[in-house]
Amino acid sequence: MPATIIVGAQWGDEGKGGVTDRLTANADVVARFAGGDNAGHTVAVDDKVYKLHLVPSGILYDGVACVLGNGTVINPVNMLKEIDELVEQGIDVSPTRLMISTRAHIITPAHIALDRASEKARGEGAIGTTLRGIGPAYLDKTGRQGIRAGLMLDDEEFADTVHNAIEQANQTLTAQGFDPLDAQATAEAYITAAKRLQPYLTETAVYINDQLRDGARVLCEGAQGTMLDIDHGDYPFVTSSSPTAGGALTGLGFGPLYVDRVVGVAKCFATRVGSGPMPTELDGELANRLRGSGERFWDEFGTTTGRPRRCGWLDGVILRYSSQVSGFTELFLTKLDVLSGFEELKIAVAYEVDGQQVSYPPSTIHDLQRAKPVYETLPGWQEDISAVRSPDDLPQAARDYVQRIGEICDTLVGAVSVGPKREQVIPLA
Ligand code: IMP
Repeated sequence: MPATIIVGAQWGDEGKGGVTDRLTANADVVARFAGGDNAGHTVAVDDKVYKLHLVPSGILYDGVACVLGNGTVINPVNMLKEIDELVEQGIDVSPTRLMISTRAHIITPAHIALDRASEKARGEGAIGTTLRGIGPAYLDKTGRQGIRAGLMLDDEEFADTVHNAIEQANQTLTAQGFDPLDAQATAEAYITAAKRLQPYLTETAVYINDQLRDGARVLCEGAQGTMLDIDHGDYPFVTSSSPTAGGALTGLGFGPLYVDRVVGVAKCFATRVGSGPMPTELDGELANRLRGSGERFWDEFGTTTGRPRRCGWLDGVILRYSSQVSGFTELFLTKLDVLSGFEELKIAVAYEVDGQQVSYPPSTIHDLQRAKPVYETLPGWQEDISAVRSPDDLPQAARDYVQRIGEICDTLVGAVSVGPKREQVIPLA
C-alpha cells in the first residue's frame, strides 16, 4: 500500500514542509493535492533554506517526481517565478520532474483583484486571506466557470478566456466602487507564463494511478491545515479547499485502498494567521516568547505574507478532531524546543460553551467565538533541548508533555522535532 498523506492538524504552518522533506527519503513521487501559492513551506537543507509556495517539497530530492494535482489552483506567473528561482539555486525542475494537472484550476489577475475587493468589503469581518486569489478561483471552479490548466495548451483560447475573465471581473469591481484592471496589460504576463508552462501539463491522475499500480511510493503533501478546511475548519474563517486526508484522494484522483499511512503534523503550541477564533490565543510576554523575534527563519512570521502569527497554548480539542477527520495513523510534533524555559505549560482538553463542556470544536462561528478553553497544566522544563537526538535524553517533563498530547488525541506520536534541521527530528516510535 504505497500512499502516505501528510496533513496539517492545526491552522497551517505546522512544519509540514520539513516533515515532507524527511519522508521524501522513502518516496518516489511527492504530490500537492489542494491549495495554491497561499502555502509557504520552508525546508532547511544543510545551510540552505528553501521557501516553497506551490512546488512540492520533494523537488529538493534528486530523482523524486513532483505533481501538482487537480485539486490545486495555479497562478501561472507565480508558478514560473518559483520554478525559475529553484533553477537558479541549482535544482532540477524540468518537466520530467514536475507535472501540473491539466485539471487544476487557474488563478487569474481577476481572482486576485476580487480577493482584495472582497476582503475590503468585509471590513472588520475580513478573513485575513493571503490575497492570492485562492477563494475566488475555487468559487469559479465550483460555480462551473473556472479555467482548467489544460486550456493553457491552446494559446488563443487561453488568451481569450483570461481576457474575458478580467473584463467580467471588471464589471463586478466597478459596481463595487473598485478600480478596474487593464485587461490587456494584466493578461499579457499570464499568457507568456502559460506558454512556458505547457511542457509541464499532463493527466496527473492517470500518472499517479500508474505509479501506484507499479508499487511506487507516493507522498501526498498537504497544505494549510484541518482548521482551515472548507468543511471541517472554523467556517467562514477558512481557505476554500480541503486540506484534510479526504482532499488528497479527490485532489489527486486515486482510491483510498492505496493509503496506508496518514501523518498529522502539529506544532507543540498553537499559531494562526488571519482572523477567526483561536480559543487558546495568548498575548503579551507569553505570546512573544512563542513567536520569537523574527530573526530566525522559523520564528512565527508568515512565509507567504510576512505577517506575525497569533500564538497560544496547544489546543488539544482541535488536535483530537483533526486526528479523527483524517484518521491519523501517527502524529509528528514540531518545535518542542520553543517550549524550553516555561515554568508551566497548558493544553486545552475541552471547551466550555455557555456552561457546557464540549470535547470537539463547535460547528458554528457563533458558538466557536464563545468557546472558552478548559486547561490542563503540566510542568515545564528549563533545558535547551535543540541538541537532543534521542528520546531518552529529553527532560522527563518534555517526554510527559509529548505523551499527554498523544493521549488527548488517542494517536501515536511518531516523532518530535527540536529545530528546523533534518537531523533535529527525534523518532519516538
Ligand atoms: P486564503 O487561503 O488566502 O483564502 O486564506 C484563507 C485563510 O487561510 C486565511 O486565514 C489565511 O491566513 C489562511 N491560510 C491560507 N494559507 C495558509 C497557510 O499556508 N498557512 C497558514 N494559514 C493559511
